[in-house]
Amino acid sequence: MTAIVLLGPPGAGKGTVAEVLVEKGYTHISTGELLREQIRLGTPLGLKAKKLLDLGKFVSDEIVVGMIQVVLEAASAGKKFLFDGFPRTLLQAKKLDELLCSREGDLSDVILLECPDELIVERLSGRRTCTKCGAVYHTTYNPASVDDICDADGCELQLRPDDAVETIKRRLAIYTERTAPLVGFYQERGRVYTVDASRSIEDVRNEVLERLG
Ligand code: AP5
Repeated sequence: MTAIVLLGPPGAGKGTVAEVLVEKGYTHISTGELLREQIRLGTPLGLKAKKLLDLGKFVSDEIVVGMIQVVLEAASAGKKFLFDGFPRTLLQAKKLDELLCSREGDLSDVILLECPDELIVERLSGRRTCTKCGAVYHTTYNPASVDDICDADGCELQLRPDDAVETIKRRLAIYTERTAPLVGFYQERGRVYTVDASRSIEDVRNEVLERLG
């Protein structure tokens, strides 16, 4: 089992890069998407998570690590995982190490997507997400063929509740405080490859694909 981590602030383009890596055989695990699925299903976890997500706050380490544990324990040995939005705290990073180690797995690369805050606000406020399949569009940079309708399944596209400008600012502040320290944590192990994510979607995707072969 091998794993790659996509690290970077909200809106840097982690999900957008992940789409092309899935075509290369990676299994995409987005903790944000796993949580939104629980919200769509209306489970007790989803109800609890919704309040936090809408405010741009983190769900507890315990819940998130528990979700990842379930995924890894059910996985076959040859799997290639792509983690998007996980880990987000030092504790989560240490737990990921333990989980991979217990499955004789290896974290091969950490791809850091760097993007200035001004661009992030523009990207997230123009983002539209499919209410059914979660596909991601942008009103300017990656529009759907028909306004507000998903190309893949014809369902409605919506602005995510946590993509309101004030919530974006809170998410960025929490990223700086709690997630940015992971860069140093992984740099010490020589695992970090930094990508300038302010460029076009195509350029960013191509650089990541080149890096990961
Ligand atoms: P999550 O869903 O992980 O959100 P996030 O990390 O804030 O990241 P985003 O999905 O907002 O952005 P992205 O980097 O994937 O960008 P995207 O590709 O969509 O988490 C949501 C919430 O869940 C958290 O706030 C927290 O509450 C909770 N949570 C999740 N994981 C957790 C954890 N581990 N611990 C605790 N809580 C957790 O791109 C954004 C937009 O820009 C799109 O419209 C896209 O089309 C466009 N775009 C992308 N790249 C480019 C480009 N190069 N040029 C132009 N436009 C671009």
